[in-house]
Order: sequence, then C-alpha cells, then structure tokens
Amino acid sequence: LGQVIHYEEEVASTQKIAHQLAQEGAKEGTLVVAELQTAGRGRMDRTWFSPKGTGIWMSLILRPPIPPQKAPQLTLLAAVSIAQAIQEVTGLVPDIKWPNDILIHGKKCVGILTELQADPDRVHSVIIGMGINVNHNQFPEDLREVATSLAIEKGEKIKRARLIQEVLTKMETLYRQYLQHGFLPIKLLWEGYAISIGNEITARMLHGTIRGVARGITDEGVLMLEDANGVIHYIHSADISL
Ligand code: BTN
Repeated sequence: LGQVIHYEEEVASTQKIAHQLAQEGAKEGTLVVAELQTAGRGRMDRTWFSPKGTGIWMSLILRPPIPPQKAPQLTLLAAVSIAQAIQEVTGLVPDIKWPNDILIHGKKCVGILTELQADPDRVHSVIIGMGINVNHNQFPEDLREVATSLAIEKGEKIKRARLIQEVLTKMETLYRQYLQHGFLPIKLLWEGYAISIGNEITARMLHGTIRGVARGITDEGVLMLEDANGVIHYIHSADISL
C-alpha cells in the first residue's frame, strides 16, 4: 500500500482526487496526501477541519473482491491500523468509538470516511479517507471541547512522515490478513480498542435517535443496539454519545 503516492500542497478534498484516480483505473494501494484541504469532508455531510501542515489528510484506494455491504469492515480495519500506528509511534493508547472515531483521553483525534464505487454485487473501489490531527496546538472554538491532536496529548511534536509510514505498514498487514482469513481477526482487534460496547449509549442518525445498550458489532461491522424493550436495532451509520 502506498507504492504510488500523489502528494499535493492544496486540494479541496483528497477524497475527491482519489475518486477521480480510481475512476481512471488507479491501482490498489494508490494514496493521495495533501498538506491542506480547503473543503475537507467528514461523515454525515459535515466538514473536516484540515489546516495546513499540522495534520495527516490522506485517502487510500483499495480494490477488495467483496460485495458493497461488506465495505464497513474496511473502515474498522482502517481504524485498527491507525490505532496501532498511533500506539507504536507515540506510546499513547487510543480508544475507538464505533464506527471509526479514534479518541485519546475522550477527545477525537482521528476521523475516517469510507466511500465506495460499486455495483450492487461488487465493489470497484473503496476510498478510505483518513484525517489525523497530529501537530495542531489548538482548535477553533466550536471544536475545542471535542477535538484534540496527538501533540497536545503527548506534549511533543510527532513526525508525520513516520506516522504515515506506520499506518500503511499496519494496514498492509491487516489487509492481507483480511483477504486471507476474513473479518473475524480484525473484529477481535477492533473490539480490543472499542469503548461503548456493553454500555448505554445514544445513537443519533440522520432520521432520529435511539437510546440503548451497545451489544457489539455484527460480522459486517454493523452496530447492534438493544433498546429498553429488548429490541435489537442494527445501526449502519450514526453518531454515538455515551
Ligand atoms: C469524520 O467525520 O470523522 C471523518 C473525517 C474524514 C476526514 C478525512 S481527511 C482526508 C480525507 N479527505 C476528506 O475530505 N475527508 C477525509
């Protein structure tokens, strides 16, 4: 992974560029990295704060031979890879909040956005967008309570190139394992980092809110939430709060 790297000073969004490249037939493992995003995209139609030079803003193209409904597995795989890489490079121990926010000391320092080019039965490409807050020393007012950077938590600057390298190395190992043995080994690793499983949480979706106990994830990476009536809801996309 990352044998072909497109490095850009400034882009609207690395996701957009990766989509274009994938459409044009870019091969698996192609990576787009930018210093600055002027229109960084987040999950659920949000924007992603992507200032110049302090973060890792990158999108990776994968072409796994899977049906589209299994794509969320790769988001969880990416989350585990980044968590492992952060741990290795900084010594900090991250938590993962379903599906793919990485938190340190309760604040978010990584977001992952997975997008697909697919037919109903087959994925053409999975574009995994990763935003890692590395060396920010402060955040805009509206993010201050919820966001952090590795440098803030560690108390020193982190080398971005080293972290990118480590993320790709970890991801390559897990991706190989995934292609060979399926999702189960990844799921176990993911559960090792996961907070909120077994706890009462609120899931906010685009069309409503459910409160219940997070019972775990399915083999496809879908969250199982048990409400007060004992009904299990299968949540594909939501924001989780404790
Ligand atoms: C989230 O909302 O938590 C996901 C944020 C994903 C941000 C990354 S930064 C690199 C890539 N390009 C984008 O426009 N978004 C993703």
